[in-house]
Amino acid sequence: VSAAEVNRGESVPTSFQAVPFSRTLWIDPDDPTRLRVIDQRQLPHALSELVLGTVEDVVEAIKEMAVRGAGCIGVTAAWGMYLAALQAHTLTLEEAWTFITDSANSLVGSRPTAVNLSWAVTRQLNALRDLQSTDEFVAAAKEVATEITQEDIVGCRKIGRHGLEIIREVHERKGSEVNILTHCNAGWLAFVEYGSALAPIYAAHEAGIPVRVYVGESRPRSQGLLTAWELQQAGVPHVYTADNASGNLLQEGKVDLVIVGADRVTSRGDVANKVGTYLRALAARANDVPFYVAMPISTFDPDTFDGLVEIPIEEREGEEVTHVVVSDGEGAIRKALYVPGRTEVSNPAFDVTPAELVSAFITERGIVSANELSLKAFAGHISPERSSE
Ligand code: MRU
Repeated sequence: VSAAEVNRGESVPTSFQAVPFSRTLWIDPDDPTRLRVIDQRQLPHALSELVLGTVEDVVEAIKEMAVRGAGCIGVTAAWGMYLAALQAHTLTLEEAWTFITDSANSLVGSRPTAVNLSWAVTRQLNALRDLQSTDEFVAAAKEVATEITQEDIVGCRKIGRHGLEIIREVHERKGSEVNILTHCNAGWLAFVEYGSALAPIYAAHEAGIPVRVYVGESRPRSQGLLTAWELQQAGVPHVYTADNASGNLLQEGKVDLVIVGADRVTSRGDVANKVGTYLRALAARANDVPFYVAMPISTFDPDTFDGLVEIPIEEREGEEVTHVVVSDGEGAIRKALYVPGRTEVSNPAFDVTPAELVSAFITERGIVSANELSLKAFAGHISPERSSE
């Protein structure tokens, strides 16, 4: 099945069924005890799936970034909890609960920065905590995972619609193509479908508004390649640039607005996102270019305030910096050494952009200012426990 068959229609499925490559993950239609995901480590060179049959498989897939992106790892973890409940089905109630809580800890520990992961796992634990049989654990875990999946899809669609109005306004003012800078990948690969930062861009493209997207490579893992691949599939005009080109593009007036995603947003609006986001925010402010952050409720962390102090920044393996993944153009993918052998490396995967550099958040509830009061009102609209909007 070609990835070009990505479903971008308005209809939102009412049940979580197999949909080939229109989304990042789905339950195996032939075996509902297995989760299928796109293996993002192979992209953009190859489109392949991975079958996850246990919670341990899910932890591994998240750690190794076979599944990645804040929304996607949250939803995958929710299904991981379902797989854990299935694995615990034949145990006593007490043993099953111990297995489920241990599994929850492993999932939450698999990647620290994106809050969607612990949000989804906590929601599962809250739903399961007082149940009285392992049958109920399985049924409830499936129901919650299905809800979280649907909310992710619907939320991203709404982010698209709200962000579209910002792009439309720029287009009407300018009367020509709207140039948008993004970073990393916050498209459908980072969620279940559609995405956060790319959702307004897809919506604008669908509405016939001419857009061009500047895609920074986002070293070291180069998730910008995923964004370029997505945009190519969707036929959205885009330009791939080296990370360091952003300042120059902003200075030369080539960018009308910046839209990025987020992995965690604090109660006052500080934003953890892929490393390099902060530099783009600084350059955008210095050049009077609006800097928007697209996020669903699952990315908002009301328990944190000062992002620099309170958000754990994931430090990843140095090999991501010292090596690059290359393809021979004929299907073989390999890692190649990129730096002199003994160079010391540091690999913080995220950085924190202070709220004052954020023009506004694009959320499923509309456009929200980057301050505590507005964000509280936004979060108050949807209880993190059960959001169905
Ligand atoms: O899982 P990663 O490290 O690839 O996730 C990081 C991101 O994809 C980005 O920071 C993105 O902008 C936010 S995810 C919606």
